[in-house]
Amino acid sequence: MTDYKLIELPYNKEDLAPGISEQVVEWHHGTHHQGYVDGLNKAEQKLQEQREEEDFSATGSLLNSFTHNFCGNVLHDIFWENMSPEGGGKPEGELMDKIEEEFGSYENWKKEFKAAAGSASGWALLVYIPQRDELHNVAVDRHDEGAVWGAHPILACDVWEHSYYHDYGPKRGDFVDSFFQLIDWTTVQDNFMEISKTFN
Ligand SMILES: [Fe+2]
Repeated sequence: MTDYKLIELPYNKEDLAPGISEQVVEWHHGTHHQGYVDGLNKAEQKLQEQREEEDFSATGSLLNSFTHNFCGNVLHDIFWENMSPEGGGKPEGELMDKIEEEFGSYENWKKEFKAAAGSASGWALLVYIPQRDELHNVAVDRHDEGAVWGAHPILACDVWEHSYYHDYGPKRGDFVDSFFQLIDWTTVQDNFMEISKTFN
């Protein structure tokens, strides 16, 4: 059974300020993200115990817990890694070409992604769908409600209140504007190329 561990941040907790304060990064990574890792390990352990005991009475709720915590862990990994204190700017190369092909322009993509971040009760995602060779924006509630099968997130913006409320209050749009200034497009491009090479 895999023992899931909290990823280390690729920067110091204070480095994303003023876009995201040190306090929010500390709570978000150390408490909330850690909670999903712990919940995932606990769900996996309990599921294994159920199998060994051939007692499946709690399996339904454990599978729900697995999905919630697994998806939460995956998306938080992407979220932390797709930001950088040196972030901002625009995508380049193949990713920029694909964004312009799919959305008409980078500005169009950005407006649509911001709308997704405004409407979601969870996450705004830029996903790549290998079987159609398409990019798409997706608005997800919690960590998985509204997810798209076969799609791989390459960019994730967490719009749970724990992500921004301490810094921005109800002004979620201001947080999303700051997020754009923190996007590490090199990582997003790497995610895109890796998935594209794996499936195509
Ligand atoms: Fe979060």
